This record gives sequence, C-alpha cells and structure tokens, in this order.
Amino acid sequence: MIETQLWRVNPETADLENDLQIKAAAKCLSQGKIVAFPTETVYGLGGNAKFRDSVQKIYEAKGRPSDNPLIVHVATAEQVREICTEINPIAKKLMDAFWPGPLTLVLPSRGEVSDAVTAGLSTVAVRMPSHPVARALILASGLPIAAPSANSSGHPSPTKADHVLHDLYGKIAGIVDGGETGVGVESTVVDCTTTPVTILRPGGVSREQLEEVIGPVADDPGLTRPDQTPKAPGMKYKHYAPEATMYLVPAGESRIQELVAHEKNSDRRVGVLTTEENQKDFPQADVVLTCGRRSDPESVAHSLFAILRAFDAENVDVIYSETFSEAGIGKAVMNRLSKAAAGRVIE
Ligand code: TXA
Ligand code: MG
Repeated sequence: MIETQLWRVNPETADLENDLQIKAAAKCLSQGKIVAFPTETVYGLGGNAKFRDSVQKIYEAKGRPSDNPLIVHVATAEQVREICTEINPIAKKLMDAFWPGPLTLVLPSRGEVSDAVTAGLSTVAVRMPSHPVARALILASGLPIAAPSANSSGHPSPTKADHVLHDLYGKIAGIVDGGETGVGVESTVVDCTTTPVTILRPGGVSREQLEEVIGPVADDPGLTRPDQTPKAPGMKYKHYAPEATMYLVPAGESRIQELVAHEKNSDRRVGVLTTEENQKDFPQADVVLTCGRRSDPESVAHSLFAILRAFDAENVDVIYSETFSEAGIGKAVMNRLSKAAAGRVIE
C-alpha cells in the first residue's frame, strides 16, 4: 500500500495552472509518481510518458496487459511535434477541428516517449484534452502525460473520483478530484497512418462529426468481425463488465418485461438497465437503474459507466439492458454496452 492523496480542485478556478493543489499533483508527476485526474471523457491515470518507471507503475496499478499501449496527453502543439515525426494534412485538419477535445490520433512516433507507452509499436496515440484540470496539470508538470483510463483493467472507466478511489486506493500517489466528467465515454481513437483514416475505437467524437471535416473514414474491421484482431490492442480485451451476467435486449421493453417475469421463478436478483422514459415499466425487477434519457443520447453516454458500477453495489445476478441507436455518440455507447455484456444478446 502507498499513501493516496486527494486534491480537490474546482475546474472553474481562475489560473488553475498555479493552483496549489494542481502544483502538488504536478510535483508528484515530475518525481515519477502516478496521479489520477479528470478529463472531459473519463478520469485518467497519469505518469511521465518519457520515464519508463512511471509508465510501468501505471500498468502495475491497473493490472493492465503490457501489450496494450497508452495515450499520451499534451496541452500544446509543440508537445505534439516533440512526440510525432509527421503530422499529415488530414491529421492537421482533425486537430484543428476537434482539439482540445475527445479525439485521440494515432501518428508515427519519434521515439521520444518510453517504448513502454507504445508497447513497442512504431506509432503513438496522442490526445489534447479540453478539461481545464487536465490542461492545467499537463502545463504545470511540463511533461507529456501517458494516461489510460483510471480503472482497474476490465472494470468500467471512472467518471467520478470515487470510482478511482474504489479501484486504485493505496496503489497510486494521488487523485485530483475535479468532479464528475462530462462526455462519459472515452475519446474516439483514429489511426491517421492509413488512407482513409480508420476509427479504431468509437468515442466522444462521432463518425458523422469526423466525416463532416475530412470526408469518408473507415472502421477497423476488427471491431465487429470476430475473425479479425482489432488494431487498437485494448479493443480485444474483456472490458466494462459488471459482476452480474448482462444481456442486451434489442426488442425492448415488452421483451424485458417477459424476461423479468420469467426470473420470478428463480432466486436470482434481477436488474434492468433502462432510461428515464421507461423507468416505471419494470415493477417486477429487483433493481431498475436509469441511464439518462433515450431522447438525449449524450445523457446516456454521460451516465453509462456510473450505472454499470452501481449494479455491482446492488448485488444483482443478472442485468437485462435496453439498447440504443448507433447514430452519433450512440455508436460508442453500444460498443461499450456490448463489451459489458460480453456480446450476449437476446433476440
Ligand atoms: O478518453 C480517453 O481516451 C481516456 C482519457 C483518460 O484520456 N483514455 C483512455 O485510455 O481511454 P485507455 O488506455 O483506456 O485506452 C486507449 C486505447 C486502447 O484501446 C489502446 O489499445 C489504444 O487506445 N491505443 C493506444 N496507443 C495505440 C497505438 N499506438 N495504436 C493503436 N491503438 C492504440
Ligand atoms: Mg481504458
């Protein structure tokens, strides 16, 4: 066990870079320690991307397989140039349109970051987050910060400091608590070394938004075809899974009601993952949790991971979940839900 400090920071504070809490967290980073912090997507677990020891601490604290590379977080264009050899015109357009924000670009690496960050690949994933606390921390440390989501490997990504405490207390030097994150699902990962560019992980920036700026983009076939390995190594792992066995039910409410009624003859504790619109429709279920409003897909993304964690606290044995349209951010929501359900779908 190591001591885990908690730094509370109001993201609206002026001149955050010189805030004493931020400075304390930045000092830990420059000493090679690892620190969790909020971004606009989910909390990240940060360490000095140039220092192998720091990066190794991240893998250890999360229990993350060493073949799964990390995203390097930057705050300035100069930091990007230090890390990547080449920023092609398409990558430049994407940076101009979506940075700072929930988009990660895979670019050719200059070899400046530790090879533990890139897991030995010739490319590096780079992202410029927009969250004021993340930006201030990166600037105050003066370092490129390697940061995966700050959960134990396999768990849902953390959207609150409490989630990080639950998974990593005693394993990391500290947590900057800047409140709940906004987007709620992780950044979109786009490989800029292919023509056209390829979406390796759907996320906070939708395909539609990308295509408005650069025209048609490709999807990594490994995301949907079981016979192909995903190009983002992280996408092949089991992830986001609640402790209960989860099933997706595309047929919707009445089918879920039947399934719940059927479970009444078993001694299993039954949960339903629904939305505010349908909340009252499952009186027979033991636990009903709502994940935002169906009419507002952003609200579903925002609360998805917190709801998956809440089912663990409710000790349910089985979860039946509604499904969502794959338009816009719905694509990322359905990707995370299918992983949480380990692909189990009840037609
Ligand atoms: O929103 C986010 O992206 C959050 C916040 C903290 O920034 N971070 C995050 O990191 O989700 P992580 O490590 O949980 O997911 C990074 C994903 C993994 O699937 C990893 O395999 C992939 O990006 N990745 C990293 N570097 C890569 C590379 N060079 N080539 C292909 N995929 C890469
Ligand atoms: Mg992750």
